Amino acid sequence: MADARIAILFSGRGSNLQALIDAVSQSDFPAEVVLAISNRPKAPGLEIASKSGVPQSVIDHKDFQSREDFDAALDEVLHMAKVDYVCLAGFMRMLTPGFVNDWRGKLVNIHPSLLPAFKGLHVHERMIDSGVKIAGCTVHFVSAEVDAGPIIGQAAVPVLPSDSAETLAARILEQEHKLYPACLRLLAESKARLSGGSVPFDSSVIATGEISNPPTEKT
Ligand code: GAR
Repeated sequence: MADARIAILFSGRGSNLQALIDAVSQSDFPAEVVLAISNRPKAPGLEIASKSGVPQSVIDHKDFQSREDFDAALDEVLHMAKVDYVCLAGFMRMLTPGFVNDWRGKLVNIHPSLLPAFKGLHVHERMIDSGVKIAGCTVHFVSAEVDAGPIIGQAAVPVLPSDSAETLAARILEQEHKLYPACLRLLAESKARLSGGSVPFDSSVIATGEISNPPTEKT
């Protein structure tokens, strides 16, 4: 079977972009990153794409009158590159229901919480403030609602009493960089798929992380 053709969409730092590019560059990974797309011309992640030799494209949302126009341009670029799967990696822009529907089952996202808890922004601060003891990250198929849709995999980490939003974010990010490539591999190998409104639960659905019971401070 031909390698799956992947596009990665991002808006900022690009650490998940880097993790996916690194994973896919392994010879046994049945996928190829054919395009990295930023909606922000100054996104630091563009440098990562350049250094890795991945073709890149900037589609600046400010150049478009409406979300529909922006998504139409995005859709055209993705089709021209014959993309099989689209990975949102810190892509901080809402997509229209039409775009999401057209790419249903092919469009995935990573979010730094154990969804459906803590959708949206300022996730790490909100988790600390709420007093939850377990946090983590989720890779999921995208649906019309932000940070929602059938879950492909999750990784859990403890929230430690000494945590700040920054230390918790760093612990979760470490797991994001493992979870996203693992989930992309499942997609590329056709082991994870959207069926009706869910991902059939079999041994290929990923539940992982670094939870011990009770969570203890690392020394
Ligand atoms: C990541 O933590 C990702 O989970 C989050 O943005 C960050 C991007 O970092 N995504 C969301 O919050 C989506 N709602 P990165 O640019 O270093 O990959």
